[in-house]
Amino acid sequence: MIPPFLYDHLIRPLLFQIDPETIHHAVMQALRMLAPLPWHPTHDPKLARTVFGLRFPNPVGLAAGMDKEAEALHAWQTLGFGFVEAGTITAHAQPGNPRPRIFRLQDMGGLINRMGFNNSGAEAVAQRLERLKATGGWPTIPIGINLGKTKVTPLEEAPQDYLLSFNRLFALGDYFVLNVSSPNTPGLRTLQGKAELDELLGAVMAANRAKPAPKPLLLKIAPDLEWPQIDEILELVTSHGLAGLIATNTTLDHSCVPEGRDQTGGLSGKPLRARSTEIVRYVCKHLDLPVIAVGGIFDADAALEKLDAGAALVQLYTGFIYRGPALVNEICRALKTR
Ligand SMILES: Cc1cc2nc3c(=O)[nH]c(=O)nc-3n(C[C@H](O)[C@H](O)[C@H](O)COP(=O)(O)O)c2cc1C
Repeated sequence: MIPPFLYDHLIRPLLFQIDPETIHHAVMQALRMLAPLPWHPTHDPKLARTVFGLRFPNPVGLAAGMDKEAEALHAWQTLGFGFVEAGTITAHAQPGNPRPRIFRLQDMGGLINRMGFNNSGAEAVAQRLERLKATGGWPTIPIGINLGKTKVTPLEEAPQDYLLSFNRLFALGDYFVLNVSSPNTPGLRTLQGKAELDELLGAVMAANRAKPAPKPLLLKIAPDLEWPQIDEILELVTSHGLAGLIATNTTLDHSCVPEGRDQTGGLSGKPLRARSTEIVRYVCKHLDLPVIAVGGIFDADAALEKLDAGAALVQLYTGFIYRGPALVNEICRALKTR
C-alpha cells in the first residue's frame, strides 16, 4: 500500500503536473495491469455489512465515473474497496464532450467535470465483463452498474434507452443504479421530475420484476434539488419498490469558485461535502431504505459524518484523487476503532 506521506508529497504533486484526463487514463492502464494479481486484502469481519441483500466486506466503495468501462474491477478490490460502481454506461457508445473536460481546483480540494458519459456502450462493456467472468478474474466484492441515457436519445425515449442497457448488463452486476443526476447530458436532470421519473422507474422495475431473480435497483440524485422535489422522488422510490438511493452526484452550485477559474460542469470534492451530507441526512430521515452517501469524503471524519447522517455505505471519487488509496484504509481503520 502507498503510504500517505509518499502520496501527498511525491505522487500527487507529480500526477497533478499532468492534464487530469491524460493521467486518469495512465492510472487506469496501470490498474488494468494490476488487476490480474491474485493478491487482495483481508477485510476485518467487523466491517462487513449486508445492505439490500448483498454482503459488503467493508462499507467504502468506489463511486461511478472512475471506472466508467469496468476495466479494472479487480484492482479496486486489491486497493481495499468494499465495492465498486462501474459506469456510467449508456445504451450506445458515445465520445462525451470535447476535451479538456476535467479541471482541478487544487486549493479547494475540488474538481469540475463535464465528461458527458464518454463510454463504449452497453454491448461493449457487457462483452468485456463476460470475458472477465469466463476467465475467472471476477472480484469477490459487490459490483454495481450505473446506467445513463445516451445523449442522442430523445428524453421521451429515455425509458427504452435505460432498458436496453439494463437488460444487456443485467446478468453482470450485483446492483444497478439509474443515474438521472449528471449535469453534463442535456436534459438528463429533468428525469428527476415526478412524471418522467414515474415512467422511468415503472419501466425498469417492471423489467426487473420479470427476471427470475430481480436485482437491487437504486436511483442516484443531484444535490441541487429542492426539498419538495426530493419528497416527490422519495415517494416514487418507495412506491416503485427500489432498493435504495445514492446521494449525491456533482453540484451545479459554483458559488464558492472564484471568478476566472470557473468552468461549465459538475463540481465535486470538498465544496460538495456539506450539501451532500445535508441531503443524506434528510433522505435517511424520510426514506425507509438504505442510502449510499457520496460527496466530499476526504478523510475518516467526513466518512463518519455521512454514516452518522444515516448512510449505510459511502463512496469516494474526488477524495481518492487527492488522497490516494490510503484513504480507503484510513476510513476502515477509523470504523474499526469505533
Ligand atoms: C471526473 C468525474 C466523472 C464522474 N462521472 C460520473 C458518472 O459517469 N456517473 C455518475 O453517476 N457519477 C459520476 N461522477 C460523480 C461521482 O460519482 C460523485 O457522485 C461525485 O463526484 C461526488 O463525490 P466526490 O465529491 O467524492 O467526488 C463523476 C465525478 C467526477 C469528478
